[in-house]
Amino acid sequence: MSRTEENLAPKVDTLAVIGAGTMGHGIAHVAAAAGFQVLLFDVNADAVERGLASVKRNLAKGVERGKITEDERDRALERIETTTRFSALRVADLFIEAVPEVMDLKRATLAQVEKIANGKPFIFASNTSSLSISEIAEAARCPERVVGMHFFNPVHVMRLVEIVVGEKTSDETLNAVREVAARMRKEAITVRDVPGFASSRLGVALGLEAMRMLEQNVASAKDIDTAMELGYNHPMGPLRLTDLVGLDVRLKIAEYLHSALASESFRPPEILRRMVAQGKLGKKTGEGFYHWEEGK
Ligand code: CAA
Repeated sequence: MSRTEENLAPKVDTLAVIGAGTMGHGIAHVAAAAGFQVLLFDVNADAVERGLASVKRNLAKGVERGKITEDERDRALERIETTTRFSALRVADLFIEAVPEVMDLKRATLAQVEKIANGKPFIFASNTSSLSISEIAEAARCPERVVGMHFFNPVHVMRLVEIVVGEKTSDETLNAVREVAARMRKEAITVRDVPGFASSRLGVALGLEAMRMLEQNVASAKDIDTAMELGYNHPMGPLRLTDLVGLDVRLKIAEYLHSALASESFRPPEILRRMVAQGKLGKKTGEGFYHWEEGK
């Protein structure tokens, strides 16, 4: 691990969130609420507008529930700037990427960040839920600045952040993101960079088994979920949770874990492949294992 001055992590004031989808807008929300200046980026204007609208909706719900004041809501919103110009992110100290779970896309995003940072210190945190941080950092000029910061959906409610330490992640980078997580009032766990980390490996295994049970007509989706909700006190059953996360996201993770862990437990069930091919991606498309209307 390098200890030279130029490798020290920057003090984080401004945070760029790359990708304004389900996870990205949630990360922007908690970052702004924690007092960071936030730049929320996506490749098209519709995506950033949708992301910002979700942040507004969730902040408003926070006020309704008495979690935040109207003033805190307004100040959080003032701290978020949206953009579709990648170069506008150059002022950020910490870049959190929440782009689709495709290794080449993560690497390309990191390369773009290195380019715009132009020698200025930065940290690159990937919100990947299972891809290897060391592999993402492999082609980077500054792999010591790369770390995993895995948030959970819905980000503004869930307390966990899984911090994933790549082979070359520096202690400075690790400490800096721990501090950021603490400012966001998240509970951080630190995990070695192994496929599926701690959370996805267990969570995905449960979800895939539930799908196989559905394929085998063991019970309805609702009854399989109820088994876990009432029998094991899970707040949400594995199929409803898959709808919330997105079937496409789950499929990509399952494919990756199936090959990375060489384990049949992670072979994607046919029903998952079929539903993704039909565009039934869960809550975001209105249909998955359940029908969704107005977010319910
Ligand atoms: N702003 C602030 N707080 C809010 C809020 C908002 N907009 N909305 C809800 N909350 C708070 C509530 O006030 C409540 O707080 P208290 O416990 O202090 O009262 C808490 O959040 C829960 O709210 P509710 O009890 O009203 O909500 P619920 O019972 O419908 O539960 C849920 C919602 C927390 C999402 C619950 O359904 C749950 O835990 N689901 C499982 C979620 C999960 O497992 N996520 C992980 C997905 S896997 C993942 O994300 C990783 C990946 O890589 C894909």
